[in-house]
Amino acid sequence: MSRAVHVPARHESANAHVSGRAIYLDDMPEPLGLLHATLVLSPHAHARIVSIDLSAARALPGVVAVAAADVPGVNDIAPIRPGEPALAEGEVEYVGHPVVAVAAPTLDAARAAAALVKIEYEPLPALLDLDAAIAAGARVAPDQTVGRGDVAAALDGAPRRVTGEVRCGGQDHFYLEGQIAIAVPGEDRDIQVYSSTQHPTEAQHGVAHVLGLPFAAVTVEVRRMGGAFGGKESQATIIAAIAALLAHHARKPVKLRLPRDVDMEATGKRHPFRIRWDAGFDDEGRIAGLDMELAADCGNVADLSTAVVSRALCHADNCYFIPATRFRGVLAKTNTVSNTAFRGFGAPQGMLAIECVMESIARHLRRPLEAVRAANYYGEVPRNVTPYGQEVEDNIIAETMAVLDAKADLAAWRRDIAAFNGASPVIRKGLATMPIKFGVSFNLTTLNQAGALVHVYTDGSVHLNHGGTEMGQGLFVKVAQVVADAFGIGLDQVHVSATSTAKVPNTSPTAASSGSDLNGMAALVAAREIKGRMAGAVAEHFGVPVEEIAFADGQVTAGNRSLSFGEAAKLSWQKRVQLSAAGFYKTPKIHFDLAKSEGRPFYYYTYGAAAAEVAVDTLTGAVRVLRAEIVQDCGRSLNPAIDLGQVEGAFVQGIGWLTCEELKWDAAGRLATRGPSTYKIPGSRDVPPVLRVHLMDQPNREETVLRSKAVGEPPLMLAICVFLAIRDAVASLEGQGPIHLDAPASPERVLDAVALRAGTRDVG
Ligand code: MTE
Ligand code: MOS
Repeated sequence: MSRAVHVPARHESANAHVSGRAIYLDDMPEPLGLLHATLVLSPHAHARIVSIDLSAARALPGVVAVAAADVPGVNDIAPIRPGEPALAEGEVEYVGHPVVAVAAPTLDAARAAAALVKIEYEPLPALLDLDAAIAAGARVAPDQTVGRGDVAAALDGAPRRVTGEVRCGGQDHFYLEGQIAIAVPGEDRDIQVYSSTQHPTEAQHGVAHVLGLPFAAVTVEVRRMGGAFGGKESQATIIAAIAALLAHHARKPVKLRLPRDVDMEATGKRHPFRIRWDAGFDDEGRIAGLDMELAADCGNVADLSTAVVSRALCHADNCYFIPATRFRGVLAKTNTVSNTAFRGFGAPQGMLAIECVMESIARHLRRPLEAVRAANYYGEVPRNVTPYGQEVEDNIIAETMAVLDAKADLAAWRRDIAAFNGASPVIRKGLATMPIKFGVSFNLTTLNQAGALVHVYTDGSVHLNHGGTEMGQGLFVKVAQVVADAFGIGLDQVHVSATSTAKVPNTSPTAASSGSDLNGMAALVAAREIKGRMAGAVAEHFGVPVEEIAFADGQVTAGNRSLSFGEAAKLSWQKRVQLSAAGFYKTPKIHFDLAKSEGRPFYYYTYGAAAAEVAVDTLTGAVRVLRAEIVQDCGRSLNPAIDLGQVEGAFVQGIGWLTCEELKWDAAGRLATRGPSTYKIPGSRDVPPVLRVHLMDQPNREETVLRSKAVGEPPLMLAICVFLAIRDAVASLEGQGPIHLDAPASPERVLDAVALRAGTRDVG
């Protein structure tokens, strides 16, 4: 039998996924008496709630209707800063803000009752625009700064200087399974909540707060999500809390499942950013000083924004040593839905910022972008310290780019594109590369901990549970592989089970790409504990020293004597040896002072490099990505098949963010793009016809689980090469106009950029 890890084992639910037998929350057998819920959303971007009249709705048979006033505990589900109600209280702050929730025996009955809810509003002035919000000083939290040195002096002393601006849009998570929760009241005041959440513990806390219960009275469980991408980190808590509030009043189970349009209107997305810079550098493009403002549109409340902006600022250096730096994060408040975690968690916006700075320097100097980047790469002491004070110890930036070049032959590729453009005035091609360095660990040190619970039964089957959640990313199979490998058994002997706050408590969200790092290690600790005990029992049985016991190929052996793993488990039980263990892990070496933005927030960095070729139709603005070459570091991969899927998926999702996915609001602040007909996520035809991924197989220098590295988010940022390639295609056009293109590079924006370049339009 070969080892269970470092092999391309298929996703534990692969068969169930493709055959439709995987059970999502809406597929669960419905409990007796289940009520179906719907939300009444604010039609105003900003208004005072004058009165709420639920009497007509409540008069209908079997109907339960609740508003903020019906919360027995505290109407606050904020993940970080307090003051974020589950149901609007006093004021509504965006179109789509949930004000009332209604449950009835059928969804139709619930909707009919919701239509009878009377809410009187007094409209107030609304801030709908990021620039207006910045100018008005509207904030959800104080500014943050990451930096060092005398930036003003460095800028003044630099031989050359550029300033610039770029904007990027938000992004809807567009998980296939929308937000959903089922709350089932139990005995006394206990409540069980099935939630499609990345963060069962936070959902547990949210429900407990709203109902005024101790955490121990609330159990939250999730077997799997149909995609999450950060959208079910804090947002799922709102849905769970509202379902629980209805169930509490109804004394019956309640299911709250948001239809797509409501999901898109009422729950948060990726933060749009406005980025401005002032960079001082020399003739080689080596930066001396950089002053950059990253202003995030946070929506109506802070939610996770302070952490998102912190990560943006800690990734605005990307791969570059910048001696004098000031990265200022602005957390603007607008009357739009609160923005939240989304794959990359601010890092994509931070990296886009610095790459646009690099590009503006390269254009100013008429030097290749790669040369300017290379002049700024992190290197030897003293050019190895980030603006937040962490030493870059595992630098493989140049090496990763070199592997990309060896795989893709960038020079030949460039020549082909130049030749094409020489004969093609309308369709223009562009090529660009992108290196990444992504910090792994939650910036908030406390969150870097995990627990696991492992049982071995007397037939040798293993029950595996841990605090991580499965959202399609393959965490469950990876952790199962680690446990199977520890016991020397087949992957089919390890049974994964639903994540539950009753099995492993006080968990962190499955986020920051650290799911397998944290939970894999916790499960390994538990498995090793049991293995040690079993080894003792078997050694006693064989009458040999415990050091002679080995676990491999489904056998527990000492020399030429052996028992099957199941026999060894049964023997251990007969000898009254405990076959269950809880494992715990906390990431070593890390610390971060949030107030000063200083320390070693990340255990290690994950690296990657990519190149993409695009074709731009300069008459329609349409863009196609024709070829992408990717090199991704994932340490010693636990599962190369899963990692490959993560790289491809993240890259295409990144293309979506930067090209076709555009959120639009009308003048009254209502989201106009509320479904797939108006909001365009990448389809199969948007996947580059040539998409080659190379996983670098080299062990993590830090002692992560079997020397693997996190992979869930980093490759999303590789897609920035697509955005830069579009700008490259525009720059290939005749004309002396500036290159200005914001993201997403929709056909309209591309046409504007083409006109600006050609000098037929003079907008900035
Ligand atoms: N992959 C799939 N298929 N579905 C998802 O929802 N979420 C991403 C990434 N990959 C996601 C995914 C995000 S935002 C994160 S943080 C990581 O998975 C979380 O899982 P991990 O820590 O186990 O990598
Ligand atoms: Mo991922 S944005 O950290 O859930």
